Amino acid sequence: MRLEDRIAIVTGAGSGMGRAIAQEFVAEGAKVLALDVRMEAVEETAAIVGNADKIVALQCDVSNEGDIKAAVAAAMARWGRIDIVCNNAGILDDYVVAEETSTELWNRVLGINLSGPFFMCREVLPIMVAQGKGAIINTASISAFIAGGGGSAYTVSKHGVLGLTRQLAFEYGRKGVRVNAICPGPIHTGMTDYLLTPEGRNEHVDSIIEALPAGRWGKPVEIARLAVYLASDDADFVHGSSYVMDGGWLLP
Ligand SMILES: NC(=O)c1ccc[n+]([C@@H]2O[C@H](COP(=O)([O-])OP(=O)(O)OC[C@H]3O[C@@H](n4cnc5c(N)ncnc54)[C@H](O)[C@@H]3O)[C@@H](O)[C@H]2O)c1
Repeated sequence: MRLEDRIAIVTGAGSGMGRAIAQEFVAEGAKVLALDVRMEAVEETAAIVGNADKIVALQCDVSNEGDIKAAVAAAMARWGRIDIVCNNAGILDDYVVAEETSTELWNRVLGINLSGPFFMCREVLPIMVAQGKGAIINTASISAFIAGGGGSAYTVSKHGVLGLTRQLAFEYGRKGVRVNAICPGPIHTGMTDYLLTPEGRNEHVDSIIEALPAGRWGKPVEIARLAVYLASDDADFVHGSSYVMDGGWLLP
């Protein structure tokens, strides 16, 4: 029970890695406010966990400042503290090349993937500083380091998440708040599921997976266990790090 009685907020908890993180956090003793823009999805996560004392589902669009403020207020009203935040919610841009990236798509991807984590951090940092302790985990991607993991909007958003992580770790470490990033490679989730269907199957992606040292897709629970580590006191000396879990994609 590495997170006994810790209070955690997890965004994008209705699917994939966010759902797995919520499940693992509860299994490690935390109480979780599970947020997602899709209420039915996050309610399903809460139902899977099946312990109403340990997980509360709430609708929240992370790109909406009002939704973020309301979610943080709900956590404070219920538990009076926030120990852990996982900024996990994100969307892909379907690999749209720059000249075809509309302003709407650009703003949507940057709004959810980058402004969302910033809004959340801005809201919880004063609370964590007052507590003298807190852990923030931002989900970036291997797209924080390389091109081609998405289109311009996605790649820029994930480079930005890494920049935000480092800047906040720099500004807030001495105030007791640790900020770190997880950089997943190919993980089998709602975001990538279509690539494993007969219709969505794509030779380029298949060949990348086959060439990986790991030779397979990653599982959401593997990322969730990394999040547990980063949220726990075992990671007390870990500040501003970017933990790559990619089956070896970045090696060559
Ligand atoms: N799957 C991968 O291979 C992979 C690789 C690298 C990074 N990532 C990143 O991991 C994170 C989780 O992705 P996943 O693969 O679990 O995806 P997923 O699609 O399975 O889950 C993402 C969840 O975020 C929610 N969401 C979308 N927009 C939202 C918004 N505006 N506000 C709140 N919630 C919103 C969705 O409803 C969904 O439940 C994302 O940030 C993604 O960019 C994924």
